[in-house]
Amino acid sequence: MAFKTIDDMALSGQVVLTRVDINVPVEDGRVTDVTRIQRIAPTIADLRAGGAKVVLLAHFGRPKGKVVPEMSLRQLVPALSEHLGVEVGFADGGYGAAVAAMAPGDVLLFENVRFNPGEEQDDAGFAQRLAAIGDLYCNDAFSAAHRAHATTHALARLLPAFAGRSMEAELTALDRALGTPKPPVAALVGGAKVSTKLDLLGNLVDKVQHLIIGGGMANTFLAAKGLDVQKSLCEHDLLDTARDIMAKADGAGCAILLPRDVVCAAEFRADPPTTTVRAEEVPTGQMILDAGPDAVAHICQVLDGCGTLVWNGPLGAFEMTPFDAATSAAARHAAALTRAGKLVSVAGGGDTVAALNHAGVAGDFTYISTAGGAFLEWMEGKELPGVAALSA
Ligand code: 3PG
Repeated sequence: MAFKTIDDMALSGQVVLTRVDINVPVEDGRVTDVTRIQRIAPTIADLRAGGAKVVLLAHFGRPKGKVVPEMSLRQLVPALSEHLGVEVGFADGGYGAAVAAMAPGDVLLFENVRFNPGEEQDDAGFAQRLAAIGDLYCNDAFSAAHRAHATTHALARLLPAFAGRSMEAELTALDRALGTPKPPVAALVGGAKVSTKLDLLGNLVDKVQHLIIGGGMANTFLAAKGLDVQKSLCEHDLLDTARDIMAKADGAGCAILLPRDVVCAAEFRADPPTTTVRAEEVPTGQMILDAGPDAVAHICQVLDGCGTLVWNGPLGAFEMTPFDAATSAAARHAAALTRAGKLVSVAGGGDTVAALNHAGVAGDFTYISTAGGAFLEWMEGKELPGVAALSA
């Protein structure tokens, strides 16, 4: 998709309404993960270097169109100032006057856009009032691009619009992963439930040559093949759906990889006694909690022959030892192939970043998306309204 970037814009003296995603975790008033703030820093730096007046538009939490003091963006000002390297101003009203007082290079954060009911309604009136105080619109919030909201969508049609650096990097990486990837392509999809990823799996079987299924989802597929998964997490009402996906994959020339061996325990807790068995031999009364070493070897062998990997979701119950073993081993192998220049690896969505951080390899992947829902919708093949609105 063609879109304008910072390099295409004359910024000097312009008020740039910049949509960012700083929906970061906060505990006791402290930001516990600054990744999303760090990701927007290059955009803010480049806008300022071009002489723009930077107005930050963002949401925080889900206040549902009402003022919820605990969801005020004011609490993020110290973290923003620290990580953007500039004193960030804050306005919770009188926006026109606050913007009129800005000098080139200034950065001003507006209050949570979701305090206004017009935001989630993609309201033209709300967007027009914002547009009236800006000259240009920059979207650097890929992780909010699946929302057709006033500041991610309507506003983009009212001012000259362009992508920020993080949005640009994200779209470039996603294109390398599924748009114009280096074949063969593998998708590794894990996580607990098939029901949350039906559209995603349906889309991927048409796009990738290898679909590696892990986590609780794999149990549903194993059961669909007639295996007795005992007490494992399994969506028994979706066995036919799983069979349909396998048939579709077959027809599309996509090989589905399910774990050949599995690590089982009688209860779900850290470090219980475990047994590693073939997938068809889950002991009576036990549950599958991770893929086994043979399954990991199989995954690594497939990745060795691939040019591209898209990763979403863990292979096992990685938050508890020893059930992090398969996820970490496969992640380390993908990271090594990436470092060697043999694999383009893109990961994102939900627990994925936490799982790759846990494996200590997040820095070695080609690209790690900070997006949750937006990454999943992109994997589902859906058009993201915030991205579509940027099309040049
Ligand atoms: C996110 O945290 O994934 C984005 O900020 C989107 O938030 P939302 O799911 O509340 O729209």
